Amino acid sequence: TPRVFSGIKPSGGLTLGNYLGAIKRFVEMQGQGFETIYCVVDLHAITVWQDPDALRRSTREIAAGYIASGIDPHKSILFNQSQVAEHAQLAWIFNCVARMGWMKRMTQFKDKAGKNAENASLGLFGYPALMAADILAYHATHVPVGEDQKQHLELTRDIATKFNHDFGIDFFPLTEPVIEGAATRVMSLRDGSKKMSKSDASDMSRINMTDDADTIAGKIRKARTDPDALPSEAKGLEDRPEARNLVNIYAALADTDVDAVLRDVGGRQFSEFKPMLAELAVAKLAPISTEMARLMQAPDEIDAILRHGAEQARAISAPILQRTYDIVGMVR
Ligand code: TYM
Repeated sequence: TPRVFSGIKPSGGLTLGNYLGAIKRFVEMQGQGFETIYCVVDLHAITVWQDPDALRRSTREIAAGYIASGIDPHKSILFNQSQVAEHAQLAWIFNCVARMGWMKRMTQFKDKAGKNAENASLGLFGYPALMAADILAYHATHVPVGEDQKQHLELTRDIATKFNHDFGIDFFPLTEPVIEGAATRVMSLRDGSKKMSKSDASDMSRINMTDDADTIAGKIRKARTDPDALPSEAKGLEDRPEARNLVNIYAALADTDVDAVLRDVGGRQFSEFKPMLAELAVAKLAPISTEMARLMQAPDEIDAILRHGAEQARAISAPILQRTYDIVGMVR
C-alpha cells in the first residue's frame, strides 16, 4: 500500500498556514487507501535553540492539534521524532550521501541562517538530510506539505537516487510531493509577499490555532487589503497578493476552490467579505482550539499516544535501517 509520511516542527504553536497547508490535508489522506504516518519533528526544532520547557509544551500542543483536527491514533501512526532513533541514524548515512553543494542551495537554510551563516548550527545546515531520513526510513511514497517544503522534497529524491546509484540497488523509493488545495502557501495577514509563519515577530501577521473567536475576527478585520472590490474571476487576483490570500483562505476553509468563491463574492467590498471570512474561520477553527485546550489538560494521555505511535513507527523503520546498514557494509 502507498505510505504517507509528514511532519510538523514544534518550534512554536500551530498557525492557520500549518492547518490549511498540512494538517487538514493529512486528515483528508487518512483512511483513503494510504497508510498514514504523522510526526512531531522535535529533532528538527532544535536546529535553532529552543527553551526545553517550551519545546515540551509545543511538542504536546502540536500532537493535540493533530488529534483535535481529526488525526485518529487508531487510523494513523502519530509520534514524536526523537523517540525513534532510526531517524537520526539514517540521517547520518544521508549526511554521507548528500553533497555540500546541494545543501548550500537550500533557500530555507539561506533564509533562516540569514546574513550570519557562519553562526548557524551544523544541524540547521544538515536539516534536509534529516528530513529525507524521516521520509525514507518508512519508504514513504507520498508526502503532503505546503509549497515551502518543495525544495526539501526534491533533495529527498536526489538523496534516494544517489544512494541507489552509489550502491547499485533500487532500495529507496522516489517520493511524490503532494502539494494540493487552495492554500498551499498561506501568506502573512500584514504583508502579502511573506509566508504566514509561527516565527514572525508580529502576532497580527498570523492566526494561531489557539486564538479565540474575538482574536481571529480582529486579525481578519485588520488584515491588509487593497481598496478595490473583489474580482469575479481568479485572474483578477493576479497582482493582488493580499486579496488573493484572503480568498485562498476562504476557499480552503470552505472546502471549495477560488473560482467558486469568486462566483459568490465577486464585486463585493472587503468590508463585506472580511466578516464573512471571520465567521467561517471561527466556525471551522473554534471547535479545534477548544478540543486542543481540552487535550492539553491531560499531557500524560498525549505522551502515551506518542509513545505508542513511536513503537509502531519503529516496527517499520528499524528493519529498513538494518537493511540500509547491510547495503552500506556495516557488520552486524
Ligand atoms: P513546518 O513545521 O515549518 O510546517 C509544517 C507544515 O506546514 C506547512 N506550512 C504552510 N503551508 C501553507 N502556508 C503556510 N504559510 C505554511 N507554513 C507552514 C509546511 O509546508 C509543512 O508542510 N521541514 C518541515 C517539517 C518536516 C517534514 C519532514 C515534512 C520534517 N521532516 C518530513 C514532511 C516530511 C517543516 O519545517 O515544516
